[in-house]
Formats: sequence, structure tokens, C-alpha cells
Amino acid sequence: MVSLKTELCGIELDNPLIPASGTFGFGYEFAEIYDINCLGSFSFKGTTKDPRFGNPTPRIAECERGMINSVGLQNPGVENVIKNELPKLKACFNKPVMANVSGFSVEEYVYTVKMLDSEPQIGWFEVNVSCPNVHGGGMSFGTSPEAAAEVVREVKKVTSKPVIVKLSPNVTDIVAIAKACEDAGADGISLINTLLGMKIDLKTKKPVIHNKMGGFSGPAIKPVAIRMVYQVYEAVKIPIVGGGGVASAEDVIEMMLAGASAVEIGAQNLVDPYACPKIIEDLPRVMEKYGIKNLKDIIGGAH
Ligand code: FUM
Repeated sequence: MVSLKTELCGIELDNPLIPASGTFGFGYEFAEIYDINCLGSFSFKGTTKDPRFGNPTPRIAECERGMINSVGLQNPGVENVIKNELPKLKACFNKPVMANVSGFSVEEYVYTVKMLDSEPQIGWFEVNVSCPNVHGGGMSFGTSPEAAAEVVREVKKVTSKPVIVKLSPNVTDIVAIAKACEDAGADGISLINTLLGMKIDLKTKKPVIHNKMGGFSGPAIKPVAIRMVYQVYEAVKIPIVGGGGVASAEDVIEMMLAGASAVEIGAQNLVDPYACPKIIEDLPRVMEKYGIKNLKDIIGGAH
């Protein structure tokens, strides 16, 4: 009998699987097709202070071994999330959920976290400093150690819940940014968000995505994600949520060996909405194949 249990910032998870923000809505959409309580948790759609309609279309492009998105943080805004989305989430999910929060200023991050802080079902904040699809927000904080640290420092003042910072891979020194966040009080690091990419249509000879560029995700980015999780694990003491191209039980194990305590599944949810329950079902078989009894024991095992 193998154990899939793991722990993230003092909260036990039945298994390490966490559907990534932006690929799982507010959970109830997927609860129509399976019981989402089989998951470790999930990270809900990036929420901002004000409602956002997102970027003009086309904002999705299929690529080889992945996809580009330029959604632009479409969400109903924090007040509507609390009033309309969280009650529906609560009706179908009975575990702590991860609140993904984004902003265009430090004050906006603080406002949104403060608003959500009293929601009992929120177990962790995933502070997104890595969205590549908006100007003047998101990734502009995540590409500077000082700016990322300031967001963490200010957000920590308004919540006692664990603050996990979601980092961008579009940087030269991921370790410097992760360490700056840890020093500023972050309780965990989530990585990686998408890689900035572009696809050009040979017929129109123009970029497919209206905003020209977008965030590339899917199996093609997994080696980059594994490398960054490995590097950050060597540099920080706080837990890591690893993600980027994870699509199978084998990938989950690889990500945990690199140093992840929990694992996000993103693009694969869009390829196959049943990806997460299938991976959870497959994990015991793959663990047995590789002689793993407790998933917890393999975290950072590659070091
Ligand atoms: O554009 C988006 O909504 C994506 C957000 C992200 O990658 O963080």
C-alpha cells in the first residue's frame, strides 16, 4: 500500500495534484464531470481587484507540444468572486483551496488578499507575479527581486495564511527572485508560470495571437520547469509547488524528485479534462514500478 500524501505549508494534502490557476476556473465547472474532491487542492482563476474582460481574441494558439495563451487575467473581480464564485466552489469542494491573486500595483495585491483573507476555505494565497499577458502588472513584479519582495512583504501584513509566490521563468536568475521572496517572508514558491512565446500564421504572415505574444505552456516546457525547481530547491528552505508541462504520473514523480512538495497541472487540463483524476489513479502503479512507498519521501530526492 503506497501513500500519496504530502504537505504544503503545514496543510496536509491527500495527494500532490493541484490544477493550476487559469486551467480550472473556480472548480465547479469541472465538478460537473467528476468529483473534484479527489484532488490535493486546486488554484482558482487569477483574481484581481476589479473585474477584467481580458485581452482581445484570438488569445489561444495551439503549438507543437503545447499552447500559447494571452487571456489577460479575465475574471469577475474580487467582490464578485466572493459573492458568486466561492459559494459555488464551496458546494462542490470540501478541502482548502488556493487563491491565485494578481494586481497592477502593490496596493491592488494587498486589497485583493485582504478581501479574500476572511474566506475560511482559502488555505493558501498564490500571489501571481508572473502573468506575461498584461502590461504594468503581473510579470513586471516577477522579473525584479526587489519588486517581487515588496509585493510579498506588503501582502504578508494583511494575512496570516501561507503566501506562496508564483514566479515567472522569463528571467535570467530565478534563484535571486526566489530568495528575495523567501527573505521577504514568503511561505512557499510556485514555479513556473508560462514562457513568453509567439506563433506566426503562414497564410496571413502575422502573429496568430492578437497581442502578438503570449504565455507558452505544455509538455515542451517541462525540462525548463524541472531545471528551475531543482535550482530553487537548492537555494531556499520554504516548500515549492512545481509545475510546467506536467501531464503524467511519471512527470509528477520527476517534479517531486526535483524538489516540489506539490505539483500543478495546467495545460493538460485543457487537453483532457480528466487528466488529474487519471494521474491520481495511475500514481500508485508508477510508484510501485519505481519502488516508491511514500511520495513525501522523494521530495528533492534528485539532489
Ligand atoms: O493571461 C492570463 O490570464 C494568464 C495568467 C498567467 O499566466 O498568470
